[in-house]
Amino acid sequence: MTEKWKHIRPSEYDWDYFKDVNGRETSMVRTLITGDEYIWEASLRPNYVAESHWHPYDIVQIFLEGEFTAEGEGSFYPGDVRWVKAGASTIEGAGKDGCRFYLIALGGDIPLMWDDIYELPDDLKDELSKRGNPVGSANINKLESELFHDPNGRPTQPVKIICDESPWVIETTFEPDYIATDHWHAHNTLYFIMDGEMQFGENEPVYKKGDIRVVKAGYSYGPEKPGKDGVKFILISNGGPVDLNWSDITPPPQ
Ligand SMILES: [Fe+2]
Repeated sequence: MTEKWKHIRPSEYDWDYFKDVNGRETSMVRTLITGDEYIWEASLRPNYVAESHWHPYDIVQIFLEGEFTAEGEGSFYPGDVRWVKAGASTIEGAGKDGCRFYLIALGGDIPLMWDDIYELPDDLKDELSKRGNPVGSANINKLESELFHDPNGRPTQPVKIICDESPWVIETTFEPDYIATDHWHAHNTLYFIMDGEMQFGENEPVYKKGDIRVVKAGYSYGPEKPGKDGVKFILISNGGPVDLNWSDITPPPQ
């Protein structure tokens, strides 16, 4: 992506099989963006199982429909968010009705590294061992809202911290009358509109429920303005904690 932002409406993308160079059964995906971050919408057939494998980058899953299973972790449903750190091996599958989710890879493409074919390289093994739990998850409905702390004391909106290490994932709800003036983020930022609508500035279309926005680090935009019923979105900060800079206080680097 060479543009500063991308508006993604998944329904406009075609379904295809997730590529596996080894020809093993994979699942249907629509590829929504590639580059520093990859986003797919994935649909697993009923009772699909992917044998033990790992990926070279951190992944995040936002569950949309059905039941997803991961050995040793349990089942995941809409409302759950799960992450797997680079190099962690997992066995995953779908329940009896299949499942659908957003799959996000932070840093690059994620080939299927089957454990019976590809040994985890020592440097990745080493790094993973220093990163705490190799996998994690949260149910958004069970998280408490807290105030997003703005060092400049400007009004913000409550957030739910889904993951506050690497990866960094939050859910935010904007009341209909809240407006965030021009600002920029220190890292590439991914927005998944889960409910309501949002405007991100005059240059961009209105983002509706189900839409995704990717914006590059350092690009100033605004105002962020929710629709008449507010907006709820999941935000992923790719590469570091969510870092919000007001453009009139801290001019953007570009
Ligand atoms: Fe923003």
